[in-house]
Amino acid sequence: MTLRTLLGVELPIIQAPMAGVQGSALAVAVSNAGGLGSLPCAMLSPASMRDELERIRAQTERPYNVNFFCHRTPRPNLEREAAWRAAVAPYFREFSLDLDAIPARAGRQPFDAEAADVLSSFKPAVVSFHFGLPTAELLAQARSWGAKVLSTATTIEEARWLEAHGADAIIAQGLEAGGHRGMFLTDDVTQQMGTMALLPQIIAAVNVPVIAAGGIVDASTVAAAMALGAAGVQVGTAYLLCPEATTTAVHRAALKSGAARHTALTNVMTGRPARGIVNRVMRELGPMSAAAPEFPLAAAAIAPLRAKAESLGLGDFSPLWAGENVSGCKEIPAADLTRELAAGLRPA
Ligand SMILES: Cc1cc2nc3c(=O)[nH]c(=O)nc-3n(C[C@H](O)[C@H](O)[C@H](O)COP(=O)(O)O)c2cc1C
Repeated sequence: MTLRTLLGVELPIIQAPMAGVQGSALAVAVSNAGGLGSLPCAMLSPASMRDELERIRAQTERPYNVNFFCHRTPRPNLEREAAWRAAVAPYFREFSLDLDAIPARAGRQPFDAEAADVLSSFKPAVVSFHFGLPTAELLAQARSWGAKVLSTATTIEEARWLEAHGADAIIAQGLEAGGHRGMFLTDDVTQQMGTMALLPQIIAAVNVPVIAAGGIVDASTVAAAMALGAAGVQVGTAYLLCPEATTTAVHRAALKSGAARHTALTNVMTGRPARGIVNRVMRELGPMSAAAPEFPLAAAAIAPLRAKAESLGLGDFSPLWAGENVSGCKEIPAADLTRELAAGLRPA
């Protein structure tokens, strides 16, 4: 079955869900242009998820994707968190901030029964996961209205695992990709491969459709992924400057500057490796730090610094997520960008 048929879309182009930089507006624009728009829910409360899903339902009849993280909720480790507070304390002094301003919660929830309940009244055509899959029970609930299930693999072993546990299609996330690595069977970043190495090897290893992600930004990179056998593409970074995205001013400025040519994997923002434009906190505490608390707990300590620095127009403490290839970032409507990407597809 082609990906078009599986997902019910005209174009096998998925707008990557990007928590923190977009909501329903981007998803609606891409779905209405014939691709698959995505709503990232990792940082939404059940009430805001419901609001965003209402907006999508009011503005498109086309299929859309709803995306969740499915990490294990970490057990608090007071010793580690105290060490991390000590590591960030000099910055709090520099900005005259109180360490007690660090929020208790880190703001990224895994998919749970409450989220599944909200979803069941909207019955989205596609549900996608990052960091593996939820429990079999939750997965069955998400499937109960016929949703197709996607998840990200960053290694061949993860792709085989996802196929064995019921994914309908697999997103092969190459090392170039912006944002969090979807890795879930390993935490060894040396096992991560670039898109051109990973994609054909995953295609050879599984029988479900494979979607290419990482470094795909224009018609020619779409064509390259399709030539390697991809069933479709998932594109994130290229959409970050679209007017429908909620990318902050400091993030937009960084994407448009020469700084965007230097990205790295860092765990200092959240506790898990994610690719972003190198900034002050990544340089000084990382980019990878053994001291960072488990995902998503590391994010709490950075939050007040980020807010303060952004109020001063600085992106020094912001997660400036971006992939290695920012050359496709354009300040054009997402529908236009989707059509530009579609020019790289084989004729249907
Ligand atoms: C700003 C940003 C935020 C992201 N947030 C998510 C997310 O919430 N859920 C998810 O599954 N993937 C997320 N990703 C990863 C994308 O799904 C995808 O793997 C990646 O964007 C593909 O590479 P590219 O950025 O080079 O296009 C994010 C990527 C970016 C750039």
